[in-house]
Amino acid sequence: MQVPFLSLKEIHEPLHTAFTGALNRVLERSNYILGPECEAFETAYSAFNNTKYTVATSNGLDAIILALRALEIGPGDEVIVPAHTYIATWLAVTHTGATIIPVDACADTCNINVDLIEQSITPKTKAIIPVHLYGQACRMDKILALATKHNLHVIEDNAQSQGATCKQQLTGTFGIASATSFYPGKNIGALGDAGAITTSDSAIHKKLLMLRNYGSPEKYVHTVVGYNNRMDEMQAAFLSTKLPHLPAWNAERNAIAKKYNEGLQNIEGLTLPLVDRECTSVYHLYVLRTKKRKEFIAHMAANGITCLIHYPTAVHLQPAYKYLGFDKGTFPVAEEIADTCVSLPLYPGITQSQIEYTIETIKKFYS
Ligand SMILES: Cc1ncc(COP(=O)(O)O)c(C=O)c1O
Repeated sequence: MQVPFLSLKEIHEPLHTAFTGALNRVLERSNYILGPECEAFETAYSAFNNTKYTVATSNGLDAIILALRALEIGPGDEVIVPAHTYIATWLAVTHTGATIIPVDACADTCNINVDLIEQSITPKTKAIIPVHLYGQACRMDKILALATKHNLHVIEDNAQSQGATCKQQLTGTFGIASATSFYPGKNIGALGDAGAITTSDSAIHKKLLMLRNYGSPEKYVHTVVGYNNRMDEMQAAFLSTKLPHLPAWNAERNAIAKKYNEGLQNIEGLTLPLVDRECTSVYHLYVLRTKKRKEFIAHMAANGITCLIHYPTAVHLQPAYKYLGFDKGTFPVAEEIADTCVSLPLYPGITQSQIEYTIETIKKFYS
């Protein structure tokens, strides 16, 4: 049996007619940038995410950069980021000219270790960017308490976790702004690149609208040095088609994760993903940890199952960040996760027999 790591066919095929309708709407209107599709998606996503505003963007990286710029964070400022994340979180800070202050991961949840944040705060710290990694919400109650105590902004990186909660509150609603990604493989993905920022602050919203569109409040008037970070009408129309299905897809991801959790219990040498009691996950990824990763992945591949690694090199050890001078050993938990993590196939539409076969194949590896 073949088990791909991810397949979008199962969720996209039933939507083909709706996608064609969405595309035809855009073609007939002949309005390709910042039109009614973008506005409609922004309204729908705000309703889904329980925020006042959404600013649709070209991708998730741009969304984080715009959020930082809207808060006037730049050279001389320090921004706290998780040591264990996708590199985009770090890149956004770097592109503003601010200084990256990484904080090591929590060994259980793989999210930022909240207990280590306060010791990294200095008079220059302006913001914290918690990343709800793999689909699991961070302990936002604790992060917000620290941010309030030290007068810091919180910008959530919600790229992997649309629909997750901490203490029953949705991720993407805690910070002054939250950036998300609609990269095709995300829980809700566009048919190309796209992203968004959500906020309930009207002043930040106004700034974001300008920054996204050449710093321009009206045509050919440019009040700030802005960007071209707009979402196109086609992606907005496709995303509006997909958004109503997101809760069901997230529920299916949870059901698959439950099957994996039940089927893979008590295997010595295999660590299952742990979700904080106060948080939920939308299982963008189901990430195991094993010291025998290379052999594990080879065994799975030999049996037709594709597993991937998110992410194989800790960000501080990537060549792009060598100049920051963080040696191996600086963020030991992030490094340990990078060395041992392995993600199992998980996507809406994966069959019960594919899940069971994956579990059995893992059990065989350990027997
Ligand atoms: C945690 C995280 N932040 C940011 C991004 C950047 O999103 P994009 O690829 O849309 O630029 C991604 C996705 O790739 C991500 O996983």
